[in-house]
Amino acid sequence: MIQRRITLRDFIDLEDKLIATGTGEFKDVVMRIVESCLEIAGELEMAELSTNMGESHSTNIFGEVQKKLDIFSNDRLVKNLSESTAVYSIASEEMDTTDFVNKQQGRYTVFFDPIDGSSNLASHISLGTLFSIFSKEDKILLPGNQQLAAGYMYYSNTIEFVYTSRIGKVNIFTLDQSSGEFILTHKNIRMPSIGKIYSINEGRELLFSKSLQNYLKMLKEHTYKLRYVGSMAADIHRTLMEGGIFLYPSDKENPNGKLRLLFEVNPVAMIVENAGGLARVGTENPLDITPESTDQRVPVVLGSKREVEYFLNMMM
Ligand code: AHG
Ligand code: MN
Ligand code: MN
Repeated sequence: MIQRRITLRDFIDLEDKLIATGTGEFKDVVMRIVESCLEIAGELEMAELSTNMGESHSTNIFGEVQKKLDIFSNDRLVKNLSESTAVYSIASEEMDTTDFVNKQQGRYTVFFDPIDGSSNLASHISLGTLFSIFSKEDKILLPGNQQLAAGYMYYSNTIEFVYTSRIGKVNIFTLDQSSGEFILTHKNIRMPSIGKIYSINEGRELLFSKSLQNYLKMLKEHTYKLRYVGSMAADIHRTLMEGGIFLYPSDKENPNGKLRLLFEVNPVAMIVENAGGLARVGTENPLDITPESTDQRVPVVLGSKREVEYFLNMMM
C-alpha cells in the first residue's frame, strides 16, 4: 500500500499537462469515463432489484443479443462523453456505425466496450469497461500505437481503474468507497515475465490448428493451470497481476477469433505491452495494425513476455 494518497483526479491532472494540452480537456474525458463507470457499477450492484437484468430485444453489429445492462452502460458512456466539448467522436461495440457520434468540435476520439464479459452478468462474475482514447486526426481508424491513453475499469470484489498512456507506464487506482475517490495502489506495475497459467476457451480445441493443439498439450505436460473466466477484463487482470498467457485464437469456424481490435484488443494490448508483457496477432503487435473497419476482429495472444515468446516459437 502506498503511503501518500495519490488520487486519480490529481494523477490525471498531471497527465493532462504531460501528454495533452494542459487545458483540462483530456482530464475531462478520462473523468467522464470514470464517472460513467461508477454509474455502471451502481447499476450492476442494484440490477437484480431493478428491471435492468436479462436480455433486450436488440442485437449489436456483431450479431450478439444485447443485455439490458450492455445498453444501459453504453447509454451512460455516450451521454456523459457527448456532453463534453473535448470529445469529437465516440464509437462502441454496442453501437451501430450509423450511431457513432461525430461532433463538429472536440479534440478526442473515444472507443469503448461498455461491459466486457456481459455473458457473465447473471452469475455476477467480474466484468470490465474497456476504453481507448485517441487525439482527433483526419482518419478515425488509426493503429493502436497512436492511442493517447487506454485501460479498463474492473468490477470485482474491489473496483479498480487500470490506466496507461503514452508515457508508457501502467498504474492501478482502487476505489475508496468511503471517499468516492480512486487512490493509486499499484504504481508502475510490471507483469511477471513467466507464469504457469493459461487462459483459453479450450472447449473449442477440436477447431484449433494442429500446432495450437500441440502447444496446449505441452502446457498440460508441464502441469500449467487452466483459468478461464470468459470476461476478458478478468482474464487479462489476472494475467497482468500473476503472469501467464491468454489466447483467443482463430479456429475453423472463426478465422479471426472473436475479440474486437478497436474496442477490446487495443486497450488491453497497450496495458500488457506497457507493463512489460507481449501482445501478438500472428507475429505482429496488434498495436501496429491499421484497422480496416470498426468491427474488425483479430486472433490474439497476450501475456507474460517469455510465455508469449515460447508460444510463438512453438507455432513457427
Ligand atoms: P463481450 O461481453 O464484450 O461481448 O465480450 C466477451 C468476450 C470477452 O470478454 C471474452 O474473453 C470472450 O468474449 C469469451 O468468449 P467465449 O465465450 O467464446 O469464450
Ligand atoms: Mn468484450
Ligand atoms: Mn461488451
